[in-house]
Amino acid sequence: MKIVDTLWTEHNAVQLVLAQARRAAAETERGVPVPADIFADVQEFFAIFVDRCHHGKEEAEIFPRLAAGSTAALIQRMEADHATGRRLAAAYADAVRAYRPGDAATGQRLAEAVRAYAAFLSDHIDLETQELFPAIEQQLADQDHAIAEAFEGIEINRIGPGTHERLHGMIDSLGPRIAPWMPKG
Ligand SMILES: [Fe+2]
Ligand SMILES: [Fe+2]
Repeated sequence: MKIVDTLWTEHNAVQLVLAQARRAAAETERGVPVPADIFADVQEFFAIFVDRCHHGKEEAEIFPRLAAGSTAALIQRMEADHATGRRLAAAYADAVRAYRPGDAATGQRLAEAVRAYAAFLSDHIDLETQELFPAIEQQLADQDHAIAEAFEGIEINRIGPGTHERLHGMIDSLGPRIAPWMPKG
């Protein structure tokens, strides 16, 4: 199904960024002066790509269609998860603002915020893969085309044309930008 493919692809992009953010954050704890703009870019990705775009699609087009019947409890759990995600993303944003490169204390706070958000989001993605995607395939197959069009509308209206592509470019840049700050193996 097109909509499951879209959500799946976005989950994979999220996992890539979480892995890079974990790598960079682990260095800050040791007092390595990883540049703050790396974490600011990751924060923009969490705010725009994850929350406004990806969670926005799920909340606007998927959850309401599955909110009754056998999937009601699952959707309640997913909505509560998204609220938790917003709280942890806000804590991460605070840690990014406080971060001073080379300072182990603010680096440690940043690393803890990254780990908390990444652990939460990985679990949330696993649960969606195991339970939400099968429910979409069973119950929303006949609406695949209409929902896919609605997803495209959300991308254009909520994040603006070109932003998705710009953020994908940012994802590709993270590895090389973090690499100079990693220990030489
Ligand atoms: Fe979600
Ligand atoms: Fe998701």
